[in-house]
Formats: sequence, structure tokens, C-alpha cells
Amino acid sequence: MKWIGSLLCGMAVATAGYAQSYDPVLLKKTNALLAKMTLEEKIGQLNQYSGKDVTGPVNAQNKTQKEDIRNGLVGSMLNVKGVKDTREIQELALQSRLKIPLLFSLDVIHGYKTVFPIPLAETASWDTELMEQSAHIAAKEAAASGIHWTFAPMVDIAKDPRWGRVMEGAGEDTYLGVLAAKARVKGFQGAKLGGTDAVMACAKHFAAYGAAIAGRDYNAVDMSLHQLWQDYLPPFKAAVDAGAATFMNSFNTLNGIPATGNKYLQRDILKGQWKFSGFVVSDWGSIGEMVNHGFANNDTIAALKAITAGSDMDMESKAYLAGLASLVKNGKVNIALVDDAVRRILYKKFELGLFDDPFRFCNEAREQQVMNDASHVAIALKAAERSIVLLKNNQVLPLSSGTKTIAVIGPLAQSRRDMAGSWTVNPVDTNLIVTLYQGLKNNAAGATVLTANGCVVNGGDKNGFEEALSVAAKADVVVMAIGETWDMSGEAKSRSDIRMPGLQQQLLAAVKATGKPLVAVVMAGRPLVMDTVVAQADAVVYAWWLGNEAGNAIANVLLGKYNPSGKLPMTFPRNVGQIPVTYKQQNTGRPVTNENNVVYRSAYIDVTNRPAFAFGYGLSYTTFSYSGLQVSKPAFSGNDSVVVSFTLTNTGKYAGEEVAQLYIRDKVSDIVRPVKELTGFKKLMLQPGAQQTIRFTINKEKLAYYNSDLKKITEAGDFEVMIGGSSDNTPLKTTIRFQ
Ligand code: BGC
Repeated sequence: MKWIGSLLCGMAVATAGYAQSYDPVLLKKTNALLAKMTLEEKIGQLNQYSGKDVTGPVNAQNKTQKEDIRNGLVGSMLNVKGVKDTREIQELALQSRLKIPLLFSLDVIHGYKTVFPIPLAETASWDTELMEQSAHIAAKEAAASGIHWTFAPMVDIAKDPRWGRVMEGAGEDTYLGVLAAKARVKGFQGAKLGGTDAVMACAKHFAAYGAAIAGRDYNAVDMSLHQLWQDYLPPFKAAVDAGAATFMNSFNTLNGIPATGNKYLQRDILKGQWKFSGFVVSDWGSIGEMVNHGFANNDTIAALKAITAGSDMDMESKAYLAGLASLVKNGKVNIALVDDAVRRILYKKFELGLFDDPFRFCNEAREQQVMNDASHVAIALKAAERSIVLLKNNQVLPLSSGTKTIAVIGPLAQSRRDMAGSWTVNPVDTNLIVTLYQGLKNNAAGATVLTANGCVVNGGDKNGFEEALSVAAKADVVVMAIGETWDMSGEAKSRSDIRMPGLQQQLLAAVKATGKPLVAVVMAGRPLVMDTVVAQADAVVYAWWLGNEAGNAIANVLLGKYNPSGKLPMTFPRNVGQIPVTYKQQNTGRPVTNENNVVYRSAYIDVTNRPAFAFGYGLSYTTFSYSGLQVSKPAFSGNDSVVVSFTLTNTGKYAGEEVAQLYIRDKVSDIVRPVKELTGFKKLMLQPGAQQTIRFTINKEKLAYYNSDLKKITEAGDFEVMIGGSSDNTPLKTTIRFQ
């Protein structure tokens, strides 16, 4: 009884939201088709199988896949790609009684053939237009190769760099995360769903997957509803508002309830309050995994809980296929629930135009042409350059034009595959990847470029040190290419120790001892703890995993052909013990006022509270000054607003871009608010000596937060406004009042 009660109530909410954003003509067609379907055919639409490139544990080899497709028991395939293969499988679906085409889906996370920087890196550009552009190119290439649907963007807020999947998202900040979510959804879906240059987006993982306890993948999540609403849900809401066609739920439990079986998340919030009209796919096997959680006795009960909670499509659990029919027949699942899920999926197939032409995305000529579009490479270079963050520079960069010999030393100097990073579309065409060594050779005209690996990324063999040191001895400057291999961050790649792996630190120390100027280029999928690297290197360039154009982009930065403009989207801790660490902390009752005296203060006795590098931090070859802060009025109310203006001046010698950041603190509130919160930013280019007035408009919405009843409100009172080039460097400060 309990189940039926919650189910009917869930349906009422879901149906109300559902009808609002549907085109009546397509909905009519969808309903007409639904009316013809048997229960088995309906359940088939809710079933998704993987092709042979598996991206999760395979529980039972599915030997009847082809037969199931012909029998109308499969609604979608993941991990099948390319015009030839998707066409072949689509043809099987068209042999089924109702000839309902399949949806082909794939993890197109940061590029398809053209590999762009990993999403975390690209977020360091703070350039939403660029994010949209790269997502669109990825969509174009994927759509040209038979794909209808990407499992991206990942919009999970992540504050723990031990979690390997931080590489897939936009980092720790909600404001930036909201903008990135919107840009990426728009990029993937293009002007209109159904265009052959676009794919359906999938906002994932709903919800709070990024807060896995201790940064261990798939782990439980326990957080207040306030934090959920305040920090973790807004990027998902932004994805809905941007029109995301699908959502994926997540592996984790949230306060004891697996997200996949979580009615509050999927029916009440997503399909109810947010009126999401698309469909929700489970994560890989996550319906069946509710048995492991101890939330369901068996797959059938797991299916009951998942469909009741609003999970529409079953990825690789086969639980719907095995259990739903009997659940409907014995009255445990109302057929209306199944119909709702099927309708959502069929509607998307109509919207994509697959009933008009199931092979719309299968055109060999287009595939050839799009895959060889040279303009994609230019955007990949631009994205890679803009993703780079300069962390330290003791005048050694940019390399002087008189540099005769450059040594590129380290295990990532000539590496190709690692540049692409994790979550690529496999196999990666490594011929398209420009290594750092090659990038320097391409771009450092007149200089000799030498190279040596020295050691591997993660191993204990010092045999290569000697060669590396003799190469270093011949050079004017040494560039160390160190970091993580591509498979050290990503799904199921949590690390408890995020210091520089293997002997790389030792290699760097040995090279340092030669006395040569030393630039560390660090490539990784997450923030690393790099205390000694930073102390020993004259300059540190954080290059993440930048994709195909990595080598050219890094070389352009080193040579001063591109002035770095990236700012960190995630805090870099000093040590693992500081994690989770974010700029957006609440003040304690005993804040540290003097770092030399932490007695009875909220502090560590062995490390400062300050991180190694703060959120929003990043250097340029030029310098900027912030001055002349003005406020249009000291107080405002209602729908009025205040304009805060200031002057940004390029005080250095190079043309460069700055990301001017606006932070706000609600000084006194019903729920304690963080000491600062990003609420606006502007990225702009200034020539040396040039200045520009920047204006931020602050209205009630910018000051709003979720109160203890989870209502978004703006309280009257004082708000501190802070402006600067990093979360820990905001020279301009003032107070405004909302009344
Ligand atoms: C991941 C998802 C991914 C899916 C399909 C899962 O293991 O968590 O993000 O989309 O596999 O590859």
C-alpha cells in the first residue's frame, strides 16, 4: 500500500510538469504509438544495452542482444558508434513489430574525434562561449557518426580532488558550475534538438555524486538538504532550464536512499518542481546495485523502487526487463508509471526525427566531411591555450627569444595518449595528438629542442636519470613534463595520495641541482599536491589534460605566443589532510585571526588553513590593478539594483586577459552563509597600460539563498562586496545594504 500511495502521488506531479513542455503534435504521435504497444514492448523501450566497448562491470554476458533488439526489447544502445555499426544495429530494430528506432548513446565528454581539454581544465578558461563551442563540435562529430545522445555534461559539484571524476566536471563552485552546465547543454543540443549537428545532452549524475565520502568513487553521500539545494542542485536546475533532454541518476546513496531509487530527487524535484519533460536514465547497473546497497532484496524489488522513484531507462541492469512485467501484472506497479517512462523516451525519438528517418544520423559522406573539418583543430588549440593556469613565475617565463636550447624532460614530454586524458571516445587517434616535445619543436623557431623521459610517471626505476641530467646540462632552460597518466584520474580512479606520483619529484630535484632555470609543466586530471615542485621550480604551468593540441598550446604559453589567462576552478590543497577544502567556507565561532597563534582556534597545528592555490587563482605574464571602486547607491530594496563599478588596469608589459571576480558575503543571516561566494565575473583583454571600467549589477536574486525551509529568499541586511583576481585576493571591498 505504501508504495502505491507514493507512486500515484508522484505521477500526478510528474504528469503536470510533463505536459507543459511538449509539442502537441509530437505528443499525439507518441501517444498513438504508445496505444499500440504491448506491455513487453513498452518495457523494451526502457531497456538499454551496451555494445562491446563496456564502460562498467558486466554482470552477465548478454548473448541474446541481437535477438532482443529484433523482438523490440531494447530501446537504446550505448557504446556503439560509427555510421556503419549504428546502421547495422538500427536495421535490427527496424525488424521489430513496431519498428521503433533505437537511440544510440555514448560518453562524449570532451570531444569525439577532436579531443578537447578535459571539462575541469576547460572550466579554468572561465569562457562559457568556448565551452559551448567545444561541446557543439563534439556533438557535431558524434552526430555525424550515428550518435543521438551524449552522457554529458557532468555537472556534479566536486570539492574533493581525491575523487577521480573531478576531471569531468566544472569544479567546486556552484555559480561557475551553473554557467558551465548551461553552456555545455546548449553546445551539445545546438539550436534545436533534431538537427543532425546536435545530440541530446544528459545532465549527470543526479544527484550529489561529487560529494562521495572521502573522495572514494561510488561511496555514500550524507549532506544536509540545505547544502544539497544551495550548492549541488543549481547546476542541474540550470541544465533543465537550458533544455537538457535527459538526466542520469547516480550510483551513490543520498542520506541513506540510493539516488536511483530516490523519489524525492527524481519525481518531486526534477519532474515535479522543475517540470523536466525529458527522461532519466539510470547509471550503469545502478538499478541492480540497489540490492548491494541493501535497499532492495532482489532485482525485481529494485525495479519496483526505481520505476516508482522516476528512473525511466535501465542502463545495463536488465532489472526492468526481468521484473517489470510481473510487477505490473500483479498490481505492484501501476501501468501509468510505465507509460509515463515510455512516453518520455518515445517523445525524444520523435523529436530527433528518428521515426521520419531512422538513419538520419547515418550518412557516410557527412561522417567523412565532419571528421576532417580543420576548423575543429583550431578551436581545440584555442580551448587548450585558454585552459592553462600559470601558478608560479619567477621571471623565467615567457622564455626569452634568445633561448637557444630547450630541454623537455620527464615522462610526459613525448607522451601522446596521456594528453587526451580520461573519458575519451576510444580508440583515441594518437596520431592527431601533439606532444609537448613536438609542440616546442613546431613553435620555438630557431631553438634546439632536446628531450629525455628520465623516468616513468608511476614507477621506481632511476635508470633514465643520467640521460635526463646530461640532456639538461646541454640546455639553457629545462621544461619538466610531469604529472599523471591519463588513467590516474577519471571514473573509479580515486587516489588517497594525490602527490606527484613515482620518482617525478626526485627527477625534478635532480634537474634542479644542475642550476638550470626550471619550468614545471604539470599535466593531470585533478589538482595535485605539489609543495616541493612549486618550491623548486622557477615557474609552474598547470596544463591538466589538454587534448589533441596540448603540445602546441603549452608551447605557445611557454614561448609567450599566448599569455596565460586561466583561473583555477578548484582549490589546490597543501596536503591531503586539508581536504575537502574550498574558498566557500563558513566562518567558525573561532576563526583564525593570526596564523602564528592558533590556540583554541579553528586551525591545524601542523599546516595553515590556507590552500596551496585558491579557487580563482591564476597568473598572467602581465599584471593588473584594481582601483576606483564605486557603488551607485549604498542601499536598495525590492526589484531595484546596485551597480558596483571599478577600473581594471593592465599595469604590465604584455597584452593579457584578466578574470575579474565578484564575491559577496551575507554578513548576518538565518543560516550561516560562507565568508565569500562567487556571484559574478568578467573576462576581458587589455593592452599594456590600458584600463577599462567594469560594472557588476547586484540585485535581490544575486543575494538570495535557501533558508531553513528550503525557500530561496533575500534577507534584509548588509552584504560585503569583494572584487579581485582570485578568491584570496580581492583588493576592492565595500558594503551594500538590502532593505
Ligand atoms: C558512469 C557514467 C557513464 C556510464 C556509461 C558509468 O559507469 O558513471 O557517467 O555515462 O557509465 O558509460
